[in-house]
This record gives sequence, C-alpha cells and structure tokens, in this order.
Amino acid sequence: MSHAPVLLAEAMDSLALRDGGVFVDATFGGGGYSREMLARADCRVIAFDRDPDAIARGAELTQSAKGKFTLHQGRFGDLSLDEPVDGVVFDLGVSSFQLDEAERGFSFQADADLDMRMEKEGPSAADAVNGLSEVALADLIYRYGEDDESRRIARAIVQARAAAPITRTLAFAKLVEDSVGGRRGARTHPATKTFQALRLLVNDELGELARGLSAAERALKPGGRLVVVSFHSLEDRMVKLFLTARADAQGRGSRYAPDLPPERAPSFALERKRATAPSDEETARNPRARSASLRWAVRTEAPAWDELEPPSLAPKAEAEWAKLS
Ligand SMILES: C[S@@+](CC[C@H](N)C(=O)[O-])C[C@H]1O[C@@H](n2cnc3c(N)ncnc32)[C@H](O)[C@@H]1O
Repeated sequence: MSHAPVLLAEAMDSLALRDGGVFVDATFGGGGYSREMLARADCRVIAFDRDPDAIARGAELTQSAKGKFTLHQGRFGDLSLDEPVDGVVFDLGVSSFQLDEAERGFSFQADADLDMRMEKEGPSAADAVNGLSEVALADLIYRYGEDDESRRIARAIVQARAAAPITRTLAFAKLVEDSVGGRRGARTHPATKTFQALRLLVNDELGELARGLSAAERALKPGGRLVVVSFHSLEDRMVKLFLTARADAQGRGSRYAPDLPPERAPSFALERKRATAPSDEETARNPRARSASLRWAVRTEAPAWDELEPPSLAPKAEAEWAKLS
C-alpha cells in the first residue's frame, strides 16, 4: 500500500524551497511531500497530521532526517509555531492509506464500519447517518455533497434506519444507489457525493481549512509561500476567496483608500491568479489526481487579517452535528 503524491513537482516549485529555510507540511499523509522537500533543499521541515496512523508512518523519516524533520499529531487548524516559516503546504483530503484501509470506513470499495474519522476519535459517519434528522441529512448531502438527489437519499436513509441502524459501508452505498434508481450509466458511483458530504462533516474539513489558512497566514514570513492542493470545488472556492480577498486590496492601503485600516493592507500577493491542474499524464497515471487544483501566493509584510470565518454551508446539519459531538 502506498500514496502517490498529487501535483508533487508543481507544489514543490510553488513553495520556492531553499537551503536554510523552514517549511511546514501541514498534511503529512504518506510523507511524499515532506520527503521531496528534504531531498530538494537543505531545509528543515515541520510536519503535521491529525491521523495517528500517519504519525506512526513518519517515525522512520524522523530518524533518518537527523534533526531536519519533526512530525506532530494535531490539526492544522490549531497550527501555532514558535518561529516564522518560509513556506506552508496543504495537500487536503484523505490519503490513499486512509482510503485503502477498509476498516477506516472512508470508501465503499470494501465492507467496513461506516467510520470516516481521521483522528479515530469522536462521533463517526454512522452516528451522523443514524442521528441527524431527515431535513439535516438532505441539507448536508445537498450542500456538502452538491448532490441534487439529496432529498430522495435522505428519505431513504430515514426509512431504512427505522428498521435497523445503518452501520456498514457497502449496505449504505447500496441504499443510496437504490434510492436514486441505480447507476443509470453514471461514471461515478451514486454514493460518491454522499460519502464526501459525510466525510467533510465528520472531520469538520471546511472549518479546519478556514482556520488552517489563517494560521498559515500568521506563521509565514514576508516573502514566504502558501501552497494549497485541494480536491473538490468547496475547498478550492474557499482557498480562492481567501487569497483573492487578501491580495485584492493591493495598493489600496495608501493611494486609493487612505482611510483603510492598516490590518486590511494586502497580506498576500497573488502572482498567478489561476489554479494549476494536473497534467493529462498525471491523471492517467493517478486517477486520484483528477479533481486536484493547486493555488499559491506570497506573504507580504502586512499584518495577518482577522481569522477567516468558516462558512456555514449546511446550518441545519452543522447544528444537529454539534449536539451529537
Ligand atoms: C492527501 S493526504 C496528504 C498526502 C501527502 N502530501 C503525501 O504526499 O503523502 C492528506 C492528509 O492530511 C491529513 N489531514 C486532513 N485534514 C487535516 C487537518 N485538519 N489537520 C491535520 N492533518 C489533516 C489526513 O489525515 C491525510 O493524512
């Protein structure tokens, strides 16, 4: 089992690695990015992952990198560093390790408990499926899964769980498939979006991203690079809005709007406005890269802005989930 890092060369180029620099890998996963950072420059890497299994996998690199590499278990939303850094990279979502280990319950390729907890703690996807109201489930699947069939799926879930709790990945995927009338020739499984919605909720992935982007903004030195690889439109949209808002005020600080408070001076410079997508060759080699999108920006000297508010996309589901958590 392994994880093929996505957009690896592009992420490394965007980080502008340099000898003597200090860089953060906010999502260690299988360590593909961290290893490449250490191979490309005589730098130090501080890495994080919230998944205890990823931390265990990193022990060997901690040893072999001889003081150049440290790995911490924790959420990047809580990122707080003792020193300003030259770059922070996020490679969002789940690793192939998490997807391929059936018992983690992220995938419907194999039968397992409906789990999906990156930290292996707290309420699971099964708790959401069995505990949220029909209206909250529909809200969740529509907003986080961007699935137009959300109401039908939510109704089917509520009917099925009245007979017995829903606990297994395959049975749940089949329930979703049947609720929308089967595959109907679709390229992706009809449960894909529902699984995505549950994963985002269970791990508060959008809240984490909002807090993580702001934490990186505070941690970066002037001239430091923020690099984010995202895998679906909700994430990419948040990164794009975060960077364009913080770069857009460019020049306004003095000439155009002298009254603008200093904390609103642009905290990032966006040298490339468009996202970078993987090459055809990479998507052919690694289907997981298909939806990837990379954005990067350079930190300016201006103070960090107020922390980004996590979007409340599915308020009913979020409120009910908070009570279950
Ligand atoms: C796509 S993988 C990273 C793969 C890595 N770049 C590599 O090359 O092996 C994403 C990793 O981020 C971790 N992760 C997701 N959200 C996180 C968060 N809020 N804080 C810390 N780690 C997180 C996951 O547990 C997973 O291991």
